Amino acid sequence: MNNSSLPLVLVTHKLPKDWLTPLENHCRLIIGPEDATIFSPKFMQYLHEAEGLISLLSINIDKELIEKCPNLKVISNMAVGYDNIDIETSTKRGIPVGNTPGVLTEATADLTMSLLLDAARNIRQASQDAIEGRWKTWSPAKWLGSDLNGATLGIIGFGKIGRAVAERAQAFGMKILYTDRCDPPTTFLSAKRVPLNNLLQECDFISLHVPLTPETHGMIDEQALKLMKPTTILINTSRGAVVDTQALTTALQEKWINAAALDVTDPEPLPPHHSLFCLNNCLITPHIGSATFNTRRSMAKLAVENLLAGLEGKKLPNCVNPEVYQSK
Ligand code: DGY
Repeated sequence: MNNSSLPLVLVTHKLPKDWLTPLENHCRLIIGPEDATIFSPKFMQYLHEAEGLISLLSINIDKELIEKCPNLKVISNMAVGYDNIDIETSTKRGIPVGNTPGVLTEATADLTMSLLLDAARNIRQASQDAIEGRWKTWSPAKWLGSDLNGATLGIIGFGKIGRAVAERAQAFGMKILYTDRCDPPTTFLSAKRVPLNNLLQECDFISLHVPLTPETHGMIDEQALKLMKPTTILINTSRGAVVDTQALTTALQEKWINAAALDVTDPEPLPPHHSLFCLNNCLITPHIGSATFNTRRSMAKLAVENLLAGLEGKKLPNCVNPEVYQSK
């Protein structure tokens, strides 16, 4: 087949080459830079011709952009979250949008527990003190943290990742309270569903696992933070904008809560020298919840499968807007 007759696919970011190997002989690829946050003018010139798009969560696929792609048949987001994509416009245009659920559950739950443990036991600060010569002797009353055993963990959003965190936390002897729109498909013997305000008031640790939607945007605001105990540790591995950044900064500065551990922020990344970076009760990692070799490879595999299905006019294996198929 003449190469130029293959459909054009835009990949918004440079990815390891072997992740895209299955696309060879199926499409022509235009690949963006590794750290793109916007579409470059060079990239924009291909939008008109593009039939497929592989995107990452760090770039916005908004109405304006979708309207510039008259031939687009599929958008495949290499993430489980898809708040970076205008789903309503995609659906109106009949464009299926794919995501990568399931494969990142365990890695994200592992990172959540890592952040929780780090914040509970001051690991980062203690390590820094050792490196910088402040470890003079075994110290009975220095570097003290909080116990996990017997503590209560509140999980906001009891989907796959929230439940995977609950399983791990139960093994550490933690009690689990959770909020969710519905009951989980399986029973967690010691997990109890409670109203949000009860969870905020009663928990020693609170971990966020909701998708970013208009309902969850800014849900952890000043009021929510003030309901928490002064000893509470907040962990966020979901989306930064679920938390009101300014309110959290004040809460940590004024010790309304004990500490926060954030894998996601709003904005993302935070600008250099942001106040949150200057607080020793705030641990920040650069959105690495799914960052294991196997998980990222599996996410890429699902993204490629969604893309190929879309190009061929088949149903995407993981489609976030299946309504598109009703009108076809
Ligand atoms: C996702 O997939 O939505 C995570 O935030 C990144 O893996």
